[in-house]
Amino acid sequence: MDALQITGQRPLSGRVSISGSKNTALPFLFASLLFDQELSFENIPRLWDIETTLKLLEDMGCSYSWDKESGKVRILPRVTQKIASYDWVKKMRAGILALGPLVAKYGEAKVSLPGGCAIGARPVNFHLEALKRMGAKVEVEQGYIRASVPSCLRGAQIVFPEVSVTGTENVLYLGALAEGETVIENAAMEPEVVALGELLQTCGVQIEGLKTSTIKIKGSKLKPPAKAISIPADRIETGTWISIAMATQSELTLENAAGPELAAVLKAFRKMGLGITEKEDGRTLIITPKSSYEAISVETECFPGFPTDMQAQALVNMCQAEGISHMRENIFENRFMHVAELRRLGAKIEVEGNLARVEGPTHLKAAPIMATDLRASASLVVAALMAEGTSTISRIYHLDRGYDHLDKKLQKLGAQVTRVAQ
Ligand code: EPZ
Repeated sequence: MDALQITGQRPLSGRVSISGSKNTALPFLFASLLFDQELSFENIPRLWDIETTLKLLEDMGCSYSWDKESGKVRILPRVTQKIASYDWVKKMRAGILALGPLVAKYGEAKVSLPGGCAIGARPVNFHLEALKRMGAKVEVEQGYIRASVPSCLRGAQIVFPEVSVTGTENVLYLGALAEGETVIENAAMEPEVVALGELLQTCGVQIEGLKTSTIKIKGSKLKPPAKAISIPADRIETGTWISIAMATQSELTLENAAGPELAAVLKAFRKMGLGITEKEDGRTLIITPKSSYEAISVETECFPGFPTDMQAQALVNMCQAEGISHMRENIFENRFMHVAELRRLGAKIEVEGNLARVEGPTHLKAAPIMATDLRASASLVVAALMAEGTSTISRIYHLDRGYDHLDKKLQKLGAQVTRVAQ
């Protein structure tokens, strides 16, 4: 298993290009199961989760090519077995996104229950309820979801008790091929969901209400996109670089960055006092550090609120602010695993229930630390870059699942980061 050795307190400088969005690329790749023809994609990020998805699709009988340098992927969806096995889904919970397309296109699917992860139990009950409402028979046995459609998949009204990103995405796939109209109430409005809806619209699916909490989908025959499908910038990677710039007190230019989708993140960091200039192209951000920062209070919320995937990173920057800051995690029940590790660096963070209280400014000092999940690993990188001395972050495979060569991008900006085998 790899580890990262990071020597902190070195100012970075230069320009960094943001990679394609992981949480858009994944639902886009699974959408290829809805088609018979080959689909091609551009700006696919080089991530373990992309590797896992392509291997999962290959196991089903699909063939693919992936040019990692150019970011081009081609998928020929020749499905011979409608199964998403535990071997892959245990590595990546987003494997649940095989469920919707397989049932929509083939009327059957056997998909491993994703199981929980470090940040929570991560149930998929909303996905299964939606399937049943649309006419599928659903059984869960021996760790697998077995779904089948005895007659035809029919449109229905689906009310999500809580907003679910991949739950909404699975219903978008199902509604695209179902008979009649499907209405999703309390739908997710995340940019990744909107992007999937817009992709399906270009393929002939009538969808109304994207960017709102009520989405209506009229099933239809799909026609494949006429040209390569391009993946938009990763908004969470963009936010992570804002966090890194602040933590290292560096002026950085972020290119091909996410823009409007980051409004809540920009607002929070500007409230701390960080300088963030958005260039007119809407895709370039210039981050300018300040000599001191203000304490703030943040709540994670569904889009367009502050994203839970930026909670761990912002928590580290709160250590730089004067006074007491608060971070309330409202989406996942156990998403403060990184706090114990940050405390090892000297961070003064107390957690009570879903509220973290951060005292600053705190001088962090290097120590050996361990990554527990994807965004926690990003926060440990931010903290190690801020700390005095050299930290070693173990289990860095968590980081490689969702960030495209973050260590290499850091090295180019002058950071002292070394990947070591452990
Ligand atoms: C997506 O996960 C993202 N993953 C997560 O990003 C992100 O943190 C999350 O949305 C919230 O924004 C992808 O897009 C691949 P949810 P998802 O269903 O869809 C509960 C990352 O770091 N719930 O919106 O799995 C659930 O437990 C990852 O890139 C149910 O109770 O999240 C949670 O508390 C981490 N039953 C809340 O809803 C269900 O059937 C939101 O979960 C589904 C969800």
